[in-house]
Amino acid sequence: MKITTLPLDSFNSLAVGARRYFLLQNGDKPVIAPSECPHRGGPLNLGRRKACGAKLVCPWHDNAYPTQSIERGALPAIRRCAEISIVTGNEDIRVWTELLPINQGQGACEDAA
Ligand code: FES
Repeated sequence: MKITTLPLDSFNSLAVGARRYFLLQNGDKPVIAPSECPHRGGPLNLGRRKACGAKLVCPWHDNAYPTQSIERGALPAIRRCAEISIVTGNEDIRVWTELLPINQGQGACEDAA
C-alpha cells in the first residue's frame, strides 16, 4: 500500500498502473474518480456535466450517471487544504493535466437516464 499526496492544482488526470482516473470536483469535495464508464468503458473524464451538476454524461452513448455513483469507484482519498492524499497499491502513479469538459452543463438532470 502506498500513500501519495498531490497538490490539487497540479493535475486533473492520473493513472495508477493501467487504470485511469480524473479529478471530479463534486461541490467543494474533490474525488479521484475512475475514467472508465460502467457501460462499455468509455472515457467518463471526457464527459459533460448536466446543468444541475449531479450527473455526468458519457461521450460514447450519452448515458448519464449520478456523480454519487461514480464516486463509489473512486480512490480512497483524504483532502487537506489544497492537497489530496490517495491510497493505492504499489503500482506506478502518473499525473498530468488535460483539457476536460466535465464542468460544462448540457441540460436539466431529468431529461436523461
Ligand atoms: S461507454 Fe459510456 S455510455 Fe456507453
